[in-house]
Order: sequence, then structure tokens, then C-alpha cells
Amino acid sequence: MANLACEASAPGKLILFGEHAVVYGRPALAVPVTQVHAIVRVSGSSRSGIWIDAPNIDLHAELTTLPTDHPLAAVVHNLLFNLRIDPFPSINLKINSTIPVASGLGSGAAVSVALIRALSTYIGHPLSDEQVNELAFEIEKLHHGTPSGIDNMVITYARPVYFVKGRPLETFKVGEPFFIIIGDTGIAAPTKESVGAVRKLWVDDKDKWEKVFSKVGEIVKQARNTIETGKTTELGELMDQNHALLQEMTVSSPELDKLVHAARTAGALGAKLSGGGRGGNMIALVNPETAETVGKSLIESGARRIIITKVE
Ligand code: PMV
Repeated sequence: MANLACEASAPGKLILFGEHAVVYGRPALAVPVTQVHAIVRVSGSSRSGIWIDAPNIDLHAELTTLPTDHPLAAVVHNLLFNLRIDPFPSINLKINSTIPVASGLGSGAAVSVALIRALSTYIGHPLSDEQVNELAFEIEKLHHGTPSGIDNMVITYARPVYFVKGRPLETFKVGEPFFIIIGDTGIAAPTKESVGAVRKLWVDDKDKWEKVFSKVGEIVKQARNTIETGKTTELGELMDQNHALLQEMTVSSPELDKLVHAARTAGALGAKLSGGGRGGNMIALVNPETAETVGKSLIESGARRIIITKVE
């Protein structure tokens, strides 16, 4: 194939409110994180086959040597199958990502989205955002088991999202920009496990957990209103309340709690874990004046790295 090389990138994402309860139909708020991203470059190859080079995960292999349910292989197979491309083209896929893996920043979904976009464009079938989102959701199911679909939606559209499972994109306005510090525990935490743990709790006592999820849903609605009307300082208290409910769901951890406590003590307006939990990231709401002190305190309390992001 004499096509020109194609490149696509996709940002990371951050869940501000509502993780886990979102799997049970409650709303959640999430935003893209543009400081980190996945980049995929597709180019023609003189060797036959589809050669995948993903140095971040130390993967250098031809497609057919990978199990078909390998998330990267699955993206390629699903896409080429859906577009009825046969035989497969001879290409090189170069995959790079600055999004930490299994940390709650959506690395898997970002790679899927960038790969779907770059490859579909390369083979002359560029897809709409709706199609990209749908294909990326299929791959999320392999990563997560029962994902809500929030990661693929925020990352595909790269916009703030008020997400309800199964509903089309609904974005929200940010009345007044605000700053969030992301603190990474450095502990890789597969979302599938924490989602499975919450499911067990729910199966054993649906009445109790439906009530907890509804409380989270109310917090999310209040948070949306607070963000849209620009009363962002009130968000801190809502973050603290959401974190307490996530602790009840058993998805926090001593490391996450330590960082959340450190952020609050150092002057953050509120803090909570973000994403699947039991590791991965926490977030704290800060003023431009307190950001540095909070960041320092997170590092002193064990954060492997911090990212400051402006939500606007
Ligand atoms: O771990 P992450 O950031 O991919 O977040 C998962 C969010 C959950 O609500 C826990 C699961 C889901 O599919 O929505």
C-alpha cells in the first residue's frame, strides 16, 4: 500500500466525580488531561504483516503472533474486520504513550482511540467520533469486564463529559477555570479488580449499595451545578464526601488515603481518589497559591509524580 504515513494522538482523562457508581447507572463527571497522551503512527512496511512496536510496554511483535484478545491486537482485528479489509495491509504501527499504565488516567482507552483513528485514516476509511467511540468501547470491555464507557467517551471527544452509561455525549460548561493536582501512588491497580470487588458487595446487598450509589449520583449533580456556576471552591467539600463513599465501597487504600490526607492538610480545598482506586491516582482541588505547597506535600507523602491540570 502506497499510502502516506498517518499519525493520531489522544489525551488522558480524569474522573472528577462518580467513579464506580457510574457502572450502576449514576452520572459521573470527567475531563480530558492534555498534558499526557498516546500517539500512534501507521506507515507502510516492506515486510509483510502488521508489525507493532510499543516500547512503553516492551512489545515488538507481528500481529498474528499475539493472542487475538490482546488489547492491541483486538483493536486492529476489530477495526479491519469492521471495515472489511482483506487481506490485511503490510504496515508498521508505532505506539507511544506518556500516560502511566493502570493508574486511572485512561491509558488503554487513549491507545485504542489513537490507534483506531490513525489506522482507519491510513487505510482510507476515516471514522466519525461516534464510530471511534463505539469501537474503543468494545476494547474497553476486554480491559475491564463491565466498563461504563466513560473512558472511551471523554478520550474520543476530548471534552468535559457529564456521563450516564448508554447515553450519547453530554458535555458541561466550566463557569470558572479551576486547578486540580493529580497525585500518582505509583501502584498499578487493574480497574477490573476494583470493579469486581464493588460488584461482589452489590450482589450481596443490593438495597444498601444502590443507596450508596444514589448518594454519589447526588454529589455528581451538585458538582456539575457548582462547576457550571463557577462556585468552584464548594467543589472541595463535594470531593471529600465522594471520597468517603468510595472508602465505604472499599476501593481506597492506605496509600491513597495518605495522599488525600496530605493534600487536605497542606491546604487543598478537597481531595479524593480518581478512577478505579486501590492504587492509581488521587486528585486535589487547589488554588494557584496553594498548588505548590500541596504538590510538595504529596511528593513527601509518597506520590511518585504529580501533574497539575487546569480544568476550563
Ligand atoms: O480506572 P479508570 O480510570 O479507568 O476508571 C474506571 C472508572 C470506573 O467507574 C471504576 C469503572 C467504569 O468503567 O466506569
